[in-house]
Amino acid sequence: METKPKKRIAIISTGGTIAGSGRMGEAATYRAGTLSVESILSSVSSIQELADLEVFSVCSKDSNDITEEDLFRIKVKAEELEQDDRFDGIVITHGTDTLEETAFFLNLVLNVSKPIVMTGAMRPATATSADGPMNLYQAVALAANPKAEKMGVLAVLSDTIYSGRDLTKVNSIKTDAFEVGDPGPIGYMQDDKAYLIHAPYRRHTIYSRFAIEQIPRLARVEIYYVHAQSDPDLLAYMLETYDGVIIAGSGSGNYSQEIREVIENYTGPALIVRTSRLLEGAAFESPVFDPLKKTIPAHRLSPHKARILTQLALSYGVPREEMLALFREY
Ligand code: SIN
Repeated sequence: METKPKKRIAIISTGGTIAGSGRMGEAATYRAGTLSVESILSSVSSIQELADLEVFSVCSKDSNDITEEDLFRIKVKAEELEQDDRFDGIVITHGTDTLEETAFFLNLVLNVSKPIVMTGAMRPATATSADGPMNLYQAVALAANPKAEKMGVLAVLSDTIYSGRDLTKVNSIKTDAFEVGDPGPIGYMQDDKAYLIHAPYRRHTIYSRFAIEQIPRLARVEIYYVHAQSDPDLLAYMLETYDGVIIAGSGSGNYSQEIREVIENYTGPALIVRTSRLLEGAAFESPVFDPLKKTIPAHRLSPHKARILTQLALSYGVPREEMLALFREY
């Protein structure tokens, strides 16, 4: 009987709680990114039955400290692995705090069609019932599964398969910490088996206009958070200071009359993108809050994901008149 050749999966490690350690058994006090992924692999004995594994460390840090340089290093490594015939798929281990930002960035810039799956953990490797080993096991299983090819950057956490575009961390304590809201997850894992429900519709990886080799420095874009009585002068300052400003508006990307006046009087080059600070719903064009069409609505993208698309769009010189369409496509 012919046996199928074993898959070979590359693991790009970047740190995070999955590689964190603290007092034996405790989940709350620890330092992220202090262990190697190899040492976690040794605690997941059956993982070697799924695939042959090779680990490439890009950095080892708390994901709050991930820099633009780290992001581009991950891109370069993942694209090298795409070209390397020895590997069938790629897993990226990452801290959960900013996992969704790296996932969306990579989803937009990677020229990769092999399965590429991110994972992390809420409990450090030294905690009782650490969640990292199972997440890593399932991420490797999914990366070895041809069904995950050309699906963009995926993430596996807590038995759930998410698209890198849509997932959001919603819980700071529980192991089931991620959500996608209305779009629903891409699928589920049962041990090493993947059950896919739908494919990502928005442009990603090989279908993205940003998946090119040339890497400009990213534009400077910041987020202005709207609340009752938020300071309009702060927004005016940000518009003078940054290449783009994301408005994290209330409701469907809304704000006060004072803020509307700042936006309407602004004639400079900064791009203004409207998002909602809510988890669900979307920001669309608004004849009420933006009758002069001075802003670009980001639809369902969260403020921090809209920031990434805005950075790329400005860095790659996407013309202003294409921005509306861009936020509908990506
Ligand atoms: C981090 O994001 O690096 C720390 C928190 C985590 O991984 O859960």
